[in-house]
Amino acid sequence: MSTAGLDGARDLLDAASSIVVFTGAGMSAESGIPTFRDALTGMWENHDPMTLASPEGWANDPDLVWAWYADRATRVRSVTPNAGHLAVAELGRRPGVTVTVVTQNVDDLHERAGSVVTSHLHGSLFAPRCQDCGRAESPDVAVANPRPACPLCGSTLRPGVVWFGESLPSGDWLRAENAVGEADLMIVVGTTGVVYPAAELPERAAAAGVPVVEVNPDSSAVTALASVRLAGPAAQMLPDLLMDRRRGVDGR
Ligand code: OAD
Ligand code: ZN
Repeated sequence: MSTAGLDGARDLLDAASSIVVFTGAGMSAESGIPTFRDALTGMWENHDPMTLASPEGWANDPDLVWAWYADRATRVRSVTPNAGHLAVAELGRRPGVTVTVVTQNVDDLHERAGSVVTSHLHGSLFAPRCQDCGRAESPDVAVANPRPACPLCGSTLRPGVVWFGESLPSGDWLRAENAVGEADLMIVVGTTGVVYPAAELPERAAAAGVPVVEVNPDSSAVTALASVRLAGPAAQMLPDLLMDRRRGVDGR
């Protein structure tokens, strides 16, 4: 990784006061959570995520879809936030800086690292709800299998995630839009940047002249929008980005 990239990114960071951190599945990869486009592993390798994560898949076999999400929630519970999540949380504690975390991820690793997540654009594994009366269930219900019935109306609980073809939670989307509209820096971590409308957010930032720093070992649809690209994994790049440059080479 060239220090030019890191130095450039640190200059942008030092000059910023309103930062949007926009994250995708790569943010959680080093915690052991497969990215969305990694081949599904284990018992799910014979299933196409596009069918599981869809209203049609749900209508077709709600028990299978519920079990898939319960398995993912159980897996998230068994891992811990990585150094990248912790770096984002540390950035959020810096005086004089407003940091807004907008994530496409449905895990709770940003929260468990200490960040306040302003927008879960694609929902959350830990927000199951009744598909009829809408009653929100406790996060612990997300790992229950078989699927429990709604305690209020007896109807069917569904995972609290956004499926293909469903609209994003309006409050989360509006807060994300507002944060991007007020940002003077956007740090985009671990996303292919191809799923809309979420992928529109880095485009809006760049179009408004807001510098975009991309953190991703591979190039993506965001790369062309980025002022600086930190070509490496989040758990290494984000702590490096936040390292205090006043320290000497050996970190003291
Ligand atoms: P993807 O799985 O599409 O992309 C993961 C991105 O993370 C890729 O660009 C990888 O290069 C990058 N990556 C992998 N390891 C990384 C690491 N250690 N550090 C940093 N980056 C790393 O995941 P998303 O772009 O988040 O939507 O997918 C966006 C949406 O597509 C998901 O939210 C999901 C899916 O359809 C819904 O479920 C609605
Ligand atoms: Zn109900």
